[in-house]
Amino acid sequence: MSNRTFTMIKPDAFRNGHSGAILDRIIKEGYAIRALKLIHLSAEKAGQFYAVHKARPFYGELVAFMSSGPIIAAILEKENAVESFRKLIGATDPAKAEEGTIRKMFAASVGENAVHGSDSDENAKIEGDFFFSGLEQC
Ligand code: RTP
Ligand code: MG
Repeated sequence: MSNRTFTMIKPDAFRNGHSGAILDRIIKEGYAIRALKLIHLSAEKAGQFYAVHKARPFYGELVAFMSSGPIIAAILEKENAVESFRKLIGATDPAKAEEGTIRKMFAASVGENAVHGSDSDENAKIEGDFFFSGLEQC
């Protein structure tokens, strides 16, 4: 277990002014920030990031949304980070997310759901390296 995960504050949450509250919650939950940047993804880069979903009907919308404005990307560290962070953000559809989770608090719909969290240690490493060079990872 790597104890690291990768997250993005998605364009909806950034646009709506929730970045500070979300980062504050993440830090208060005990995650250490190991890398952080603000970036506006091109459609090409957003498509690469979510390439695993290429065949899904929502792929076009997902790519358009993720390239619609700046996101905040971060690598986070905590014991059992991948699993615990997925619990903290809640279900993909905020309507199904538990009370108190980040998606329940800050997301409006399944398509615009405020935050990303890696789903495995392997993907956390791949996704972190997609955004950050070795020099940028503390
Ligand atoms: P993420 O990767 O962004 O953390 O989200 P997730 O693991 O909870 O969900 P995933 O299955 O990986 O889907 C990636 C993103 O695609 C959008 N989606 N839309 N309309 C739909 O049925 C649908 N299903 C997924 C969501 O924005 C989801 O976060
Ligand atoms: Mg996912």
